[in-house]
Amino acid sequence: MAISILTIIYLIASVTFILGLKMLSNPHSARRGNLIAAGGMTLAIFGTIFLYKREDGGHLQNLAWMFGALLIGGVGGAVSSRKVKMTQMPEMVSLFNGMGGACAMLISLIEFNHVTGSIPSINILKLSEVITGGKYIAIIIGLVIGSVSFAGSMIAYLKLSGKLKDISFKGQHIFNMILFGLIIVMAIITYNTHALSSPLYFYITFALAIAYGIFFVMPIGGADMPVVISLLNSFTGVAAACGGFLYNNNAMLTGGILVGAAGTLLTILMCKAMNRSLLNVIIGSFGGNAAAAAAAGDQGHYKEISLADAAMVMSYANRVMIVPGYGLAVAQAQHTCHELEKILTDKGVEVKYAIHPVAGRMPGHMNVLLAEADVSYEKLEEMEQANEDFKNTDVVLILGANDVVNPAAKNDPASPIYGMPILEVEFAKTVIVNKRSMKPGYAGIENNLFFQPKTSMLFGDAKKVLQDLCAEVKNA
Ligand code: TAP
Repeated sequence: MAISILTIIYLIASVTFILGLKMLSNPHSARRGNLIAAGGMTLAIFGTIFLYKREDGGHLQNLAWMFGALLIGGVGGAVSSRKVKMTQMPEMVSLFNGMGGACAMLISLIEFNHVTGSIPSINILKLSEVITGGKYIAIIIGLVIGSVSFAGSMIAYLKLSGKLKDISFKGQHIFNMILFGLIIVMAIITYNTHALSSPLYFYITFALAIAYGIFFVMPIGGADMPVVISLLNSFTGVAAACGGFLYNNNAMLTGGILVGAAGTLLTILMCKAMNRSLLNVIIGSFGGNAAAAAAAGDQGHYKEISLADAAMVMSYANRVMIVPGYGLAVAQAQHTCHELEKILTDKGVEVKYAIHPVAGRMPGHMNVLLAEADVSYEKLEEMEQANEDFKNTDVVLILGANDVVNPAAKNDPASPIYGMPILEVEFAKTVIVNKRSMKPGYAGIENNLFFQPKTSMLFGDAKKVLQDLCAEVKNA
């Protein structure tokens, strides 16, 4: 009876994961979706702890260990998610993803020991005669993918938090391929060797997988990390699904598959939005000095605008479109930005936000940032819609965005961002760009938009500039 109740619990949990994921795709329902999926997970965890029956018919023991781990994990997760700044979100996701990979890795280590530990020492059978191929594949894939995901995510975390620099050496990609080949060879040997000596090869496979995770992520440019994290996230999902196979646990299987599929889709979407292949992200060293030097050059003169003039132009506009970018997030100026939007709206100006899919440094970065400041979702326009509306816009105010408004993506086939869809702000009547200097953005390339006749530069930190603009617009 208890088992069938547990099966129903797993089914409910699986449904909540799917529902939660669906609801996450809309800002209005995202918070509720997250709660529903978390509720399903809680149900699955407590259902397993209290209702799962072992082969000998007994219930799970070691409850103190389980509740201790739940408490530490729960408190740690809650505190860090409250404390984390929006700009540190990619590193936190990376850290948490690494924990998922570590869990899958530990499950495989424990299950392997479980199998080999029960073999009598006089046994001379091969491992392949002791466990089925299906079970071994689930163990070894969980181990390899979980270890790669864990080690890779830790390197990504260290890079994003500035504790580690990009490290690459000549022939690194060939070295990585050899490492990968060795992992496969060792995994095959483990299965086909004497059951009592198989642990040696199993642990060599484990060590190689950890090394592969480190060397795979090490050379990838720090700014490409969000794509890599999403890829590692999909790896963790697959590794967790292997755990689901091992334990015949449907909730774990569904959860793993959903994470794997969502991570893969997100990776593809991010690459598409940047017009780059996954291979280019992995071996491309994007935004390197060579690209910057090749694309940089004297593009002419730019003109500056004063705060008072910028305030005047916006106050007398019918329609203003704000383009938020990475710099707005760095400056934590989202609240002041919303303040300016309200002041302009009170003066009868129609204000909207144009959101580029890869503005900032993580998927949905600008949506989350503006939601934090209570900006209404109705005010946000996706790229396609915004591009339709720029021709009817009087003033575009660019706040710390650069690559996502760079016309080189359309006009310059030699540019590293050529082909990336951009916000076509140059169709508006006036463009005001706020940034601190003429330095390039993430792609490391010059932006011709800044030198066009209808563009004016408004230099300064986004928060300070927006505070001053608010005061000026009030008086305009
Ligand atoms: P970027 O092209 O990186 O430009 C950001 C600009 O903000 C910089 O030029 C910088 O200029 C300015 N800035 C920095 N701090 C500022 C501050 N405190 N106040 C005002 N301005 C400040 O950003 P973007 O236009 O948002 O484009 C995002 C880039 O990241 C794209 O190339 C995209 O492909 C890449 N990327 C995105 C993602 C996702 S999923 N979003 C993932 C990986 C890569 P100054 O230094 O002169 O101030």
